[in-house]
Amino acid sequence: MPDASPSTFVKGLAGVVAAQTALSSVDGTNGVLTYRGIDIHDLAETTQFEEAVHLLWHGKLPNAAELTAFKKELAAERKLPRQILELIRSFPKKAVPMEALRTAVSALAFSDPETEDISPEATLRKGLRLTAKMPTIVAAFHRLRKGKEPVAPKASIDHAANFLYMLTGEMPDELTVRAMNLYLVLLADHSLNASTFTARVVSSTNGDLHSAVTAAIGALKGNLHGGAAEATMNMLLEIGAIEKVDSFVDNAFDTKRKIMGFGHRIYKTGDPRVRHLQAMARKMENAAGKGHNYVDMALAVESAVNRHRELYPNVDYFSAPMLYYIGVPVDLDTCVFAVSRIAGWTAHVLEQYADAALIRPAAEYVGPTGVKFVPLNERN
Ligand SMILES: CC(C)(COP(=O)(O)OP(=O)(O)OC[C@H]1O[C@@H](n2cnc3c(N)ncnc32)[C@H](O)[C@@H]1OP(=O)(O)O)[C@@H](O)C(=O)NCCC(=O)NCCS
Repeated sequence: MPDASPSTFVKGLAGVVAAQTALSSVDGTNGVLTYRGIDIHDLAETTQFEEAVHLLWHGKLPNAAELTAFKKELAAERKLPRQILELIRSFPKKAVPMEALRTAVSALAFSDPETEDISPEATLRKGLRLTAKMPTIVAAFHRLRKGKEPVAPKASIDHAANFLYMLTGEMPDELTVRAMNLYLVLLADHSLNASTFTARVVSSTNGDLHSAVTAAIGALKGNLHGGAAEATMNMLLEIGAIEKVDSFVDNAFDTKRKIMGFGHRIYKTGDPRVRHLQAMARKMENAAGKGHNYVDMALAVESAVNRHRELYPNVDYFSAPMLYYIGVPVDLDTCVFAVSRIAGWTAHVLEQYADAALIRPAAEYVGPTGVKFVPLNERN
């Protein structure tokens, strides 16, 4: 390791390069995102989630035979162990879904045959099992809290379709599957975002994948990160009508309330994922029929925000109405994000193990100095 000479404190680590990665690159000035060097615009509407995962984990898009084999491997791991299903049954019906997901993922460590094995081979197998099982957890939790029995996964259908099938108990239509797949592909990795950094910190101590993912789910939950889509949808529901947009936004700026789904630490000229999500949200809205206008409302909010200051919508903004029209209950939005981002978390954990360096930054001490010690019997 290079000598750690004292450096200046940087709030929020903004601009600090804290890892090297060959997974995704984010160019915030030009609004470009790539997975393994491939532009996200080329992947967005042409690949399946399984292909994106293969690309991230194995460094290349799968050929047809590899894709079939990879899908088969994933489908074979979707079922939950009986004890995990029983655990989910015991959760309070009012539990926050991300807490349910975080707890169930952590508990999967008990039954995974390789929990403590942090070799690359075992970590990939565990990543595959978690990627396969997380949608089953989310769907089972949702159905149980609604008083319904979980729906067993169907091995014959692909990842996005199977997730929707387990949520609703019905086979989704083609457009809805495309929308869910698009979401899963676009959210699969994003460089050193807060939850991925969390996963890397845990794995940098030689912590296992279940620990890293459990911690990452905790980091994703906050509304400055993955929780922003749910917060955006709740904002649109709160606004309620297009005529109320301007006064809502004016009031938000007057009271320094943040507009959810806007702004980004890295993208300063717009997020390249937005246009795909906006277009798909519109398609889903059109399919939903008359009386649905959350995309128009979101566009009206964007115009109103830009009258105050230059801020761009981020990935969570149009995800919110799109997931809403897909039929995902608003409070499950962040869980769906996790169902996608597990791909990136696993890939980053593998990179971190290969890097074999403990992540342990320094802190600038700003407390008192030279404080006199007072023995217990002399203290006030
Ligand atoms: C994502 C986010 C945390 C990035 O934060 P950051 O890089 O630390 O940038 P800051 O929060 O310092 O924002 C810079 C300025 O823009 C303003 N700003 C940023 N996002 C804003 C938003 N969503 N609504 C209103 N103002 C916002 C800040 O208030 C700050 O103003 P100032 O310069 O007058 O103090 C921030 O944009 C945010 O909170 N967005 C809303 C939550 C969200 O959508 N998160 C998902 C991210 S993918």
